[in-house]
Amino acid sequence: MNRELRKTIIAGNWKMNMLSSEVQAYKDELVKLVPGFKTWCDAVVCVPFVILPAALQAFDSTDVGVGAQNLSQFESGAYTGEVSVAQLTDIGTEYVIIGHSERREYYGETDESVNEKLKATLTSSMCPIVCVGETLQQRETGVTGDLVAMQVKIALNGISAEQMKNVVIAYEPVWAIGTGMTATPEDAQVVCSAIRNVLADLYDKKTADAVSILYGGSMNDKNAQELLAQPDIDGGLIGGASLKPAAFATIINAANQ
Ligand code: 13P
Repeated sequence: MNRELRKTIIAGNWKMNMLSSEVQAYKDELVKLVPGFKTWCDAVVCVPFVILPAALQAFDSTDVGVGAQNLSQFESGAYTGEVSVAQLTDIGTEYVIIGHSERREYYGETDESVNEKLKATLTSSMCPIVCVGETLQQRETGVTGDLVAMQVKIALNGISAEQMKNVVIAYEPVWAIGTGMTATPEDAQVVCSAIRNVLADLYDKKTADAVSILYGGSMNDKNAQELLAQPDIDGGLIGGASLKPAAFATIINAANQ
C-alpha cells in the first residue's frame, strides 16, 4: 500500500453466493467488527445483481460501498439477461467488477469486451474494477508478465489519463482463485509493480502512481497483512473470505492499520 499516492480498497466479491434476506445480518456483524470505516481504506461488497437493492439499502448508513460483478457493454435494447450501466447507476451502484476470470472462462468474455465494458462504465459515476491475471499454465510457461501487460493494454485501449483516475485494476492469478493457493507477497508484488510500469508507459508516472492495484486470489484474514504490506498492492479483491463478516472485517482492519 502507499496511502500517500493512492486509495486502499478492500472489495468483497460474493460471486453467486448469499441471499437478499441474509444481507442485513451480514452488515450488522461487519459493522460491529470494524471500528473505523474509511479511516484509510474504502470497503466494498460486490454482490449478485438481484441482491443489489438489499445491499444498497443495508449499507446505506455505512461507509461500505456496494458494487455489481458484471455489466453489459451495450447501452440498452435487445440483450436478454443483461444489465446496463444506466440500470446499475439508477439504483445507486457505486462499483462494478469487469472481466473477472470466471466471466472470461465460463462466459466468453475477452480483452476486447472488457475494454468495451470499461468504456461503458466510464460514461457513468461507477468505479470499475478491471481484473487481469494468468492461468497456472501461462505462469509455468513464463509468460505472466507479457500476458498481464497485454490484458492491461487491451482493457485500457482508448482510455485517457484523466479517465484512469477512476479505474481500479485487480491482479487475480487464476490459479490462486478459490484454491487456497495464494501468490506469495513477493510474486504478487512483482506482477502488481509490472502492471504499474505498463501504466507508466501507457500514460505517465504520476497517473500510474495514482491507480489502485488490488490483489485477488485466496486472500484471507491470515495472509492479508503480508500482501498489503507490499508497496504496489493497494488492497484486495476477496472471494471466499468476504462471505464471512469476521474474516472480511479482519482484512479491512489490516488495511486500516
Ligand atoms: P477467492 O478469494 O475465493 O480466491 O476469490 C478471489 C476472487 O476471485 C475475487 O474476485
